[in-house]
Amino acid sequence: MRIAVMGATGQLGRATVDHLIGQVGAENVVAVARTPSKASDLAARGVVVRAGDYADVGSLRSAFDGVDTVHLIPTKAMPRERVQQVQNAIDSAKAAGVRRLVHVGIVGTDVTNKFVIMPYLLYAESAIVTSGLAWTLLRNAYYAEPIADWLPEIVRMGTIPYPFGEGSHAWATREDMARAAAAVLASGEVDGEILNLTGPAAHTVEELCAIVSRVTGQTVTHRDASVQDYIDASIADGEPEPFARLLATLYDPVRDGLTSFATTDIERITGKPPESMESFLGRVWRA
Ligand SMILES: NC(=O)c1ccc[n+]([C@@H]2O[C@H](COP(=O)([O-])OP(=O)(O)OC[C@H]3O[C@@H](n4cnc5c(N)ncnc54)[C@H](OP(=O)(O)O)[C@@H]3O)[C@@H](O)[C@H]2O)c1
Repeated sequence: MRIAVMGATGQLGRATVDHLIGQVGAENVVAVARTPSKASDLAARGVVVRAGDYADVGSLRSAFDGVDTVHLIPTKAMPRERVQQVQNAIDSAKAAGVRRLVHVGIVGTDVTNKFVIMPYLLYAESAIVTSGLAWTLLRNAYYAEPIADWLPEIVRMGTIPYPFGEGSHAWATREDMARAAAAVLASGEVDGEILNLTGPAAHTVEELCAIVSRVTGQTVTHRDASVQDYIDASIADGEPEPFARLLATLYDPVRDGLTSFATTDIERITGKPPESMESFLGRVWRA
């Protein structure tokens, strides 16, 4: 039963392939890569590496040959391009006789969600559900890792300029979400389900400031941040302005209350609870 992973050379894809090898054996994992040489380390571990570009239906059709399940990790392209990419993948999967699709989306997916990538996510989930193939939709929480990377700057600023308003978010580690995705891919038990892969608790920015204060031993104080405060801080941290503006829209659904929840889906699927922000940020800070 072969499982193909799109985006296998990316951060989430590599972590997912790692867990999948442990679940189904390297010979049953197909790492689909735009540039197969980037996956030579995976080939050395016995993973089947195949060339596949979301933009090239022919390459996807070949990459999915003999595959039971395709894991659709989207690229970071803008929505219009991503829509074509996912449609190419669905069409190729059907042509290749694939049985099941598992897609990585984002928590808070809803027609009212103002995140700029949302039109893609609404399209992709609808296209997958109506494809005629079996499916599972994963909706990932925002990754905890960028906050860990930002800790020195957060301590320097003495605050976290997330424009959350009264909203909250249950960040999860990429590792926990990859672990859950691998478990879903390896079992067929959650076909037809939407799983929200979140951390164990949703936190307001005030709570996140308290966590960061505890783990770093430095005082990080909550102040109401505007969208412009966040954009300014991102630019100061080295992000190009257009990307900082795009990222800022990720916090609209938080402010609108669309992400203010946590689920036990990761524990239900894997048997192990996800790591808390306090544990994760503390671990990274100490290292
Ligand atoms: N929930 C969150 O907080 C959060 C945070 C960040 C990202 N995400 C989402 O999670 C997904 C993966 O993130 P990531 O951090 O793993 O991204 P990443 O490290 O940039 O990986 C992206 C992967 O997509 C591949 N790719 C790009 N264009 C492709 C194409 N035309 N055809 C086939 N493969 C292509 C890349 O291949 P190459 O190696 O050839 O470039 C790479 O393997 C993205 O959809 C991203 O939007 C979510």
